[in-house]
Amino acid sequence: MKAKILSMLRETDGYISGQQLCEEFHVSRTAVWKVIEQLKTEGYKIEAVRNRGYHLEETPDVMSKAEIESLISTKWAGCGVLYFPEIDSTNTYAKRLGDGGADHGTLVVSDKQTAGKGRRGRAWESPSGSSIYMSILLRPEITPNQAPMLTLVMAQSVAQAIRKITGEEAMIKWPNDIVLNKKKICGMLTEMSTEIAWINYVVIGVGINVNTESFPEELNKKATSLYLESGRKIQRSQLIAESMRQFEHYYELFIETGNLSAMQEDYNRLLVNRDRDVRIMEPGNEYNGHAIGINETGELLVCKEDGQIAEIYAGEVSVRGIYGYV
Ligand code: BTN
Repeated sequence: MKAKILSMLRETDGYISGQQLCEEFHVSRTAVWKVIEQLKTEGYKIEAVRNRGYHLEETPDVMSKAEIESLISTKWAGCGVLYFPEIDSTNTYAKRLGDGGADHGTLVVSDKQTAGKGRRGRAWESPSGSSIYMSILLRPEITPNQAPMLTLVMAQSVAQAIRKITGEEAMIKWPNDIVLNKKKICGMLTEMSTEIAWINYVVIGVGINVNTESFPEELNKKATSLYLESGRKIQRSQLIAESMRQFEHYYELFIETGNLSAMQEDYNRLLVNRDRDVRIMEPGNEYNGHAIGINETGELLVCKEDGQIAEIYAGEVSVRGIYGYV
């Protein structure tokens, strides 16, 4: 009821009467009033005017199950939301849900992680109050070797969502970091449970630096936040909901084709490495080349110094700009 009341308040320009809300949910005026009071204590500015009703004046950067659910408008992506003020890692939790049979599209969100995981066994710093930590559980009917493409689908979706919500020109650093003004604002970690020929589930975890005001010295050169780049505080729940909307769209294109052909052009348009000199660092093999774009299976096409085109598979490789991170 709370999420529904929030949606209704948001969708109404003027006032929505207490009576209307009572009728909608078949509850008493006191029950409606209690929800409104609860919303106020969470930080929503709701004006209550006698004989007119309620009006939502301002939504702060509140994170809650009701807030996120009230904004989600998808068919399946993020339709079941589990929200935690604090958790070890949203990926770890989503994997537990996967083992327990939870539905395709279930979304786990937390305000803080105590054991956030980055790629290659690194930790992902996850303080409270400013960032997005979310993981979506998927049960795709694809083979395990197609699964790495899903991270590119998510990168495309989150980059588009950031652009839509903030107007900032977020770009993708292949395969799945998102950068703004050449600094990282978002990272992704995909984990899966498979048998030899099929997938039990995939979990894609996304960490976005949204309203972070400062970073530790050692990260300053490489990392930034949407707030630091735009000067504006962003509502995290809106960005989560828009990411789910974009993800549902691109995921369905991916499933229809079995590859990235339907979104290849969109991805390449946002690819920060495109048309740049890059350094490819594979275990035991490093070389320079010129990045061209991704192919339809998500490999990065790089023109090597001898003119040959290499197809770089995401796996263990790392791609840097010749002179820095991008
Ligand atoms: C990276 O760039 O190294 C990947 C970072 C992924 C971080 C996210 S935050 C939400 C989800 N839960 C985790 O423990 N990790 C991912």
